[in-house]
Amino acid sequence: MPPRRESIQAESAPLTNQLQPLIQLRQVYKIYETAAGDFPALRGISTDIYPGEFLGVIGKSGAGKSTLMNMITGVDHLTSGEVIVHKEDGAVSIHTLSEDDLALWRGRSMGVVYQSFQLLPMLTLVENIMLPMDLCGLYNRTGSRERALELLRMVELEEHAYKLPNYISGGQQQRVAIARALANDPPIIAADEPTGSLDSVTAEHVFEVFERLIDNGKTIIMVTHDNSLAPRFSRHLVIQDGEIIPDPPPAGTMSPNSRQCLDKRNATARPAGAHRPGVLPGEHTPQPGRGKGKQ
Ligand SMILES: Nc1ncnc2c1ncn2[C@@H]1O[C@H](COP(=O)(O)OP(=O)(O)O)[C@@H](O)[C@H]1O
Ligand SMILES: [Mg+2]
Repeated sequence: MPPRRESIQAESAPLTNQLQPLIQLRQVYKIYETAAGDFPALRGISTDIYPGEFLGVIGKSGAGKSTLMNMITGVDHLTSGEVIVHKEDGAVSIHTLSEDDLALWRGRSMGVVYQSFQLLPMLTLVENIMLPMDLCGLYNRTGSRERALELLRMVELEEHAYKLPNYISGGQQQRVAIARALANDPPIIAADEPTGSLDSVTAEHVFEVFERLIDNGKTIIMVTHDNSLAPRFSRHLVIQDGEIIPDPPPAGTMSPNSRQCLDKRNATARPAGAHRPGVLPGEHTPQPGRGKGKQ
């Protein structure tokens, strides 16, 4: 159960809103400057990410998912808006941090998992996992090796500890990458299409690792183009053309006329999920028994 902390919300905020978000996005815009002119990849994304959530960011290729992830992890600069992170000493806008402070915050707070695993091919699995610990300095060398082996055990790969990444399968490499993301015991895991290059059975194994981590109190933000995963997140955002949109209805369930009605209604009505504190327009509410349900 995530600890209940003082809220930064106004005193008049409802009691259910007293859990402090870990990350807040406020009107985030990202405009890429290209030879063909400015390209708006994100157009006003706002959401709060709470401890214990399993947040899915769903959208087709080119929708802006990776760009959004890069804003959340602070690896790229936003054009306008704010990404506010909550550190022990208070809330701070990521873009006001120096590169050193940002790297320190990221190293301690966030583990990142990519579609292409990004393991270093010359290092053994155990060394790959030790690396972020050795860089961050939270553990001595013996401690980091022991912890790396423990993490490999957690993803059921301890017996492969001294192999190089190329000698294990893609699904196994992704599990090592997850173990590496957990090295400094960050509260947040950010995963960009972590199952995108895996077959469906292997992808399911990787997804189950994430579900176990949620059950153990981690917060996970996962990007995917796979719409069918939506019900398995505690909350999800659908991104299209750089904006959060309402969940599209299942294919074939709506006539063009009713689609028009829905579009008109969405322009005025409260969106799905708006009844829950911290849920903003276009966000979709949790499934019972996952993520925030464990408070
Ligand atoms: N560095 C960049 N320069 C210019 N355009 C970019 C850059 N990165 C991404 N884009 C464009 O921004 C849009 C969103 O990209 P991205 O966030 O990678 O989408 P997704 O991850 O959803 O597939 C795409 O149209 C992509 O071509
Ligand atoms: Mg992407």
